[in-house]
Amino acid sequence: MKKALKIIVLVLAVGFIGMQFFQIDKTNPPIAETETLEAAVAVPPDVALIMGRSCNDCHTNKTVYPWYASIQPNGWFLKDHIDEGRRELNFSKFNTFETKKKKKKLEEICEQVETSEMPLPSYLWIHRDAALSETERKALCDWTKQAVTNLEKSEPPASGWPKHFCPRNTRNTRKRRTIHLLFRVLSRI
Ligand code: HEC
Repeated sequence: MKKALKIIVLVLAVGFIGMQFFQIDKTNPPIAETETLEAAVAVPPDVALIMGRSCNDCHTNKTVYPWYASIQPNGWFLKDHIDEGRRELNFSKFNTFETKKKKKKLEEICEQVETSEMPLPSYLWIHRDAALSETERKALCDWTKQAVTNLEKSEPPASGWPKHFCPRNTRNTRKRRTIHLLFRVLSRI
């Protein structure tokens, strides 16, 4: 029995040591200033501070890796979250999105923090200071709403047609066809 225990401990120890040879890549991808969130929308200092503390490690190319990222399998989980977080929404690439996607992502930020889905709960176990207060959640939501309005204002009109009648602005094909037909008839008389 004692011998079996020794073997188990030995196997675990060797396994753990073996894992340490598979370190994660901690180099941050380069950032082009013109592609960032700040280049797309105005980010007030209080919002920048909140995001720097609670979001940027997973949603920018400015990740600061903690020391335990060098201990596997921790680092692997961490890297997985960072890769996925960046894939879903990378603030360092925000200005490369189309206006529609920018607005959607901004709306999602408010949604995710209001429902406490973000920052990821597992992140908060260690980064306790990343937890958001009610005031901070509100600050983020107010900012996203303002930013969406500003984006809408700066958007060029889709065409000379009134917004609601422009066929390109409606997903409903039947409505679109009817509008087209109407315009065709009107242009004949
Ligand atoms: C520990 C890493 C981590 C932190 C910190 C983090 N996120 Fe995330 N975020 C993720 C991952 C992983 C996903 C994708 C999976 C998911 O939705 O759960 C995600 C998804 C999102 C999405 C959804 C994107 C979409 O298109 O569905 C939004 C919005 C978001 N995060 C905003 C935030 C905000 C705002 C903060 C800070 C208050 C934050 N996140 C902090 C890892 C993180």
